[in-house]
Amino acid sequence: MNPLNIVILAAGKGTRMYSEKPKVLHALAGKSLVQHVLDCAVGLQPQQICVVYGHGGEAVPQAMHQYHAKFVIQEPQLGTGHAVQQAMPHLVEDGRTMVLYGDVPLIRQSTLRQMQQAGDGLVLLTVNLENPTGYGRIIRSGQGDVLGIVEEKDASPEQRKISEVNTGILLAPTSKLSEWLNNLRNDNAQGEYYLTDIVGMAVQQGVAVHTVQPAHEWEIHGINSKQQLAVLERTWQQLEAARLLAHGVTLADPARIDVRGRLNCGQDVEIDVGCIFEGEVSLGNNVRVGAYSVIRNAAVANGAIIAPYSLIEESEVGANCRIGPYARLRPGTKLHDEVHIGNFVEIKNSEIAANSKANHLSYIGDSTVGSRVNIGAGTITCNYDGANKYRTVIEDDVFIGSDTQLIAPVTVGKGSTIGAGSTITRDTPKGELTLSRGKQVTINGWKRPTKEKK
Ligand code: UD1
Ligand code: MG
Repeated sequence: MNPLNIVILAAGKGTRMYSEKPKVLHALAGKSLVQHVLDCAVGLQPQQICVVYGHGGEAVPQAMHQYHAKFVIQEPQLGTGHAVQQAMPHLVEDGRTMVLYGDVPLIRQSTLRQMQQAGDGLVLLTVNLENPTGYGRIIRSGQGDVLGIVEEKDASPEQRKISEVNTGILLAPTSKLSEWLNNLRNDNAQGEYYLTDIVGMAVQQGVAVHTVQPAHEWEIHGINSKQQLAVLERTWQQLEAARLLAHGVTLADPARIDVRGRLNCGQDVEIDVGCIFEGEVSLGNNVRVGAYSVIRNAAVANGAIIAPYSLIEESEVGANCRIGPYARLRPGTKLHDEVHIGNFVEIKNSEIAANSKANHLSYIGDSTVGSRVNIGAGTITCNYDGANKYRTVIEDDVFIGSDTQLIAPVTVGKGSTIGAGSTITRDTPKGELTLSRGKQVTINGWKRPTKEKK
């Protein structure tokens, strides 16, 4: 197969974003715009990917360092033709070169593959728009052959009525592209080197010009403002919701779910409104996620119920666990099956074995908790002395009374019971009751203070 180069134009300033950040680094569905384009490009297995960047200094190459791509600066920015020219020395010479825009994030691989199959010569991705304002118009002959592209600012009133526009995405034979770019001039309304002028050159040389249209208009929508970003974000989320529904997931409202990453669901999963899923999340069969929960990089096993307003990050939740409402599972939490974590309980970097419960108002950090443990309301593991962190070990079948502080490092022995209100500083013996509290006293005849008269 002919080698493929992909050039991603990402040098634009994005003035209308009103942001310090380069435009292409703004996020859509939790991923930067240019990353969406890069991921799509990588899927085509090109020999070379070249990102042309400009504004924002090294921010773009730094943010994208994980990609096997060449980053080329365009400074100053003299137009789209000039931008592609900067990439040319870094491309594989034979084969074809595809040009994508870093601010057109939802372009699909299937559309680009269609362009690859459209024939030799120059392939343009075009679209018919109800309102073509601002776009370059596709000029065709009476026979329907493409003759060229005219930019809005250079177009006559007649040409402005043409509804078929240039999306900017194209595919060209690399050697021809290189030749055409060298012949570009900037004697136009904007004083720029227009990439679009290569179309006229191709026609003059008798090189075939093909056009392909995308399946969906949103594929070619570019982002220039926060309004446009918000619109495309909703487009993405609707598609994601549709994908989940098609897999049999029950969504209380497909318009009120946000997936910023990959969400994998088993059978009979139910998701209530306002939930956010980030990174890699998997939900097993029969999992229910309550309203306004946030789950990030976590695996939730079959039958688990996440009650409303829970936050789960970098954690594993076992089968049939019950989490929340208002629970917080921080990174490093591993819950085995049938664990119950209730309201206002925070777990961090801890493993809790099957059938254990912490149902109310607790902090469990850096702990190893056995099976069938009951952690009473208000129990706190004091894991931090201001300088170092220590582990708490709670063995199987322990019962910890409410409002207990466990001063780590400490081990609560198997089957032991801790009386409510205790501060435990030493290991407790297996099977025994341990408590630490002052004896209850009553002061007979004691009177409450009264307000003094002035
Ligand atoms: C361009 C096309 C136009 C098309 C439209 C689609 C040209 C001359 N015109 O117009 O036919 O309808 O896109 O949106 O190509 N960029 C650089 N360096 C530059 C200039 C631009 O990297 O010097 C990048 C921008 O960041 C952007 C893309 O190229 O991603 C398009 O630039 P933009 O200025 O939006 O082009 P338009 O004038 O809208
Ligand atoms: Mg534009």
